[in-house]
Amino acid sequence: MDAPNTEAEPFSARLKAATWEAHQEAEQHGFTQALLDGRLHRDGYAAMAAQHYFAYAALEEVGRSLAGDPLAGPFITAELFRLPSLERDLALLYGPDWAGRISPTPPTATYTARIRQMADDPAGYVAHHYTRYLGDISGGQFIRKIAVRTYGFGEDGGASFYDFSALGSLPRFKDGYRSRLDSLDLDEPARRRMIRETRLAYQLNTEVLADLGRRHTGGLAA
Ligand code: HEM
Repeated sequence: MDAPNTEAEPFSARLKAATWEAHQEAEQHGFTQALLDGRLHRDGYAAMAAQHYFAYAALEEVGRSLAGDPLAGPFITAELFRLPSLERDLALLYGPDWAGRISPTPPTATYTARIRQMADDPAGYVAHHYTRYLGDISGGQFIRKIAVRTYGFGEDGGASFYDFSALGSLPRFKDGYRSRLDSLDLDEPARRRMIRETRLAYQLNTEVLADLGRRHTGGLAA
């Protein structure tokens, strides 16, 4: 699964294959499944958006600091930044005083500390960037449809986090993103480290979801 890169296999394909098991754990988690099945109550969805807020604050703070970095810089685009849409969604979900009503859970604090450590490790940062943003423009698009249907969100937000229309065609954006992964100037040990960091990013995300599941089991409808 984590075999060395060959000329025949682009790094983007190797990264996906080597981390897909970790992806399935995040995707098949009880909390995620409840969300996908439309069984998660609105307060559970709001709590997830709140935890996203802290993760993206860290991702985007470190991203801005790495914007001029030759390795990480090409991945950093303002159209991907999620904080403005999260602020909009949180205002709808929690009200205008949303900022005083949310706080990071312990797994989110661990996750954001790890993201902030990547300020000195551009390839590690790309691993975290990939895990979140490529996921949001992939599976996130299913979640958006389900959230709109389940919670009745409209023009005033609620699921604007998943709205990437500013990027134009998402398949085209994903192709470009994968070519940037393929042209990363990394030697084999650095590629392996990046794959490991991506698995860790998935695991940290799964722990955030597991904790949300424990806190919101009362919020799962039958
Ligand atoms: C909610 C349930 C989820 C569903 C239904 C889902 C579904 C999918 C699907 C169908 C793809 C393939 C898209 C493609 O190849 O173009 C994908 C890709 C991806 N997902 Fe998810 N996903 C979910 C959760 C997550 C989570 C929680 C994360 C990370 C925290 C994540 C991260 C990713 C990433 C990074 C990719 C891109 C893989 C690649 O092409 O290299 N997904 N997802």
